[in-house]
Amino acid sequence: MSTAISPTAYNYKVVRQFAIMTVVWGILGMGLGVFIASQLVWPQLNLDLPWTSFGRLRPLHTNLVIFAFGGCALFGTSYYVVQRTCQTRLISDSMAAFTFWGWQAVIVGALITLPMGYTTTKEYAELEWPLAILLAIVWVTYGLVFFGTIVKRKTKHIYVGNWFYGAFIVVTAMLHIVNHISMPVSLFKSYSAYSGATDAMIQWWYGHNAVGFFLTTGFLGMMYYFVPKQAERPIYSYRLSIVHFWALITLYIWAGPHHLHYTALPDWAQSLGMVMSIILLAPSWGGMINGMMTLSGAWHKLRTDPILRFLVVSLAFYGMSTFEGPMMAIKTVNSLSHYTDWTIGHVHAGALGWVAMISIGAVYHMIPRLYGREQMHSVGLINAHFWLATIGTVLYIASMWVNGITQGLMWRAINDDGTLTYSFVEALQASHPGYIVRALGGAFFATGMLLMAYNVFRTVRAANPAQAEEAAKIVVVGAH
Ligand code: HEM
Ligand code: HEM
Repeated sequence: MSTAISPTAYNYKVVRQFAIMTVVWGILGMGLGVFIASQLVWPQLNLDLPWTSFGRLRPLHTNLVIFAFGGCALFGTSYYVVQRTCQTRLISDSMAAFTFWGWQAVIVGALITLPMGYTTTKEYAELEWPLAILLAIVWVTYGLVFFGTIVKRKTKHIYVGNWFYGAFIVVTAMLHIVNHISMPVSLFKSYSAYSGATDAMIQWWYGHNAVGFFLTTGFLGMMYYFVPKQAERPIYSYRLSIVHFWALITLYIWAGPHHLHYTALPDWAQSLGMVMSIILLAPSWGGMINGMMTLSGAWHKLRTDPILRFLVVSLAFYGMSTFEGPMMAIKTVNSLSHYTDWTIGHVHAGALGWVAMISIGAVYHMIPRLYGREQMHSVGLINAHFWLATIGTVLYIASMWVNGITQGLMWRAINDDGTLTYSFVEALQASHPGYIVRALGGAFFATGMLLMAYNVFRTVRAANPAQAEEAAKIVVVGAH
């Protein structure tokens, strides 16, 4: 097979912009996570101001880490992967630039409005209608750029990673638009078109699939490209990846009611959510095994390659959180775990261990290639980052398991005469040590992000524009 250098180049500019902003928003979002974790240890840190209170900063944290950090990682990697696997430039530079600036505008809008208290009150969908509309426009443009590029591809085949990214883009648009249908009453206030149990069901259909498609399917697209690339091995089973894809997207969409166990939601809907969640273990683990087994014959690389370690450990946390999730979806388990820190631990096993680790690995893989360098400025710093992130995640989730189970058991303990054994404040006091450990774990993780920022800065500064331009040239494999 011969190889030719195509005269055109990939659009790496937009990928570079998103990659850099992934690091910037990661530091801000996780720094804020450490701050709100510290507020739960030292409530004085609420500073007696409405703008800095836990209630307002918590949704800012979730928006910054999910949509700003995770979102930029997804935009950046999907633009990189779709171009490279389709061997063609993005269909439109100006539309891609619009998605970058539009997305940053939405995030800056969140940074301003959430501390001011403007919110729809729907979790992970807090942004008020003007920002929600901007987000929808940016998202539809994203879809046009992504699918337009697939249409003009030079390859016959559509690589499986693009199927995952594609499903994530389509379903996120559907969820966002349906859940945000509302009646504005002023510039900063709107009311949902749904009410009561219907509103709750729509919201958790959205919420769960935000997890399923934003925090999982998109990152699986990332996994299917970056794990084989970094391991320099083909994906373990291409057939399994196709089964994995169809099973995952078919099942995820039904599992939302596990967020509403023991509520006014009809009992059959709760049971359906529970059953679908348990079945979901199978495709989740199918994907994890496919990623892990890709390392067959390349395990020794883990000894020397900390980027590969990020990617593989992220898969291990993915496997762990997708085992824990189905278990927590069982109604009797949920009656203990719901409202407790166990949920928070589960969230961060997925968020730090899976989402953040795989994104960090992917960004470390891309940065030297985007800037025409051989490798990152310091491999030692990547290694230090890896250990800070791993230890930080373990401290976070272990402390939240202890807290969650303690809280669940203390809240349900009753005396012989039927009165409660413990008051709420006693359970809170018992949680205090766990909150200290969690804040420490978070600080470890966030410190790792600072090392990453320095390493990225040094790599970018050493970039040679001519080499970077050369790196962006499209090499069409199989051309004559
Ligand atoms: C340094 C790292 C981080 C720290 C210290 C941290 C800390 C926190 C804290 C203290 C809360 C509030 C918990 C509560 O209400 O009791 C929280 C909530 C949350 N965080 Fe983080 N976080 C970090 C990173 C992340 C990342 C990277 C993500 C996502 C990619 C994430 C996603 C979330 C979500 C979704 C919630 C809401 C959970 C729920 O409502 O059940 N966090 N975080
Ligand atoms: C098979 C996969 C999974 C299942 C069945 C599952 C199931 C669950 C269950 C039962 C809850 C607790 C609901 C409650 O009591 O309120 C939950 C909460 C949550 N999970 Fe998962 N989970 C899975 C994977 C993941 C992954 C991989 C992530 C993150 C990347 C994640 C993120 C979350 C978040 C953010 C929440 C908190 C939602 C909230 O209350 O704000 N889950 N999940």
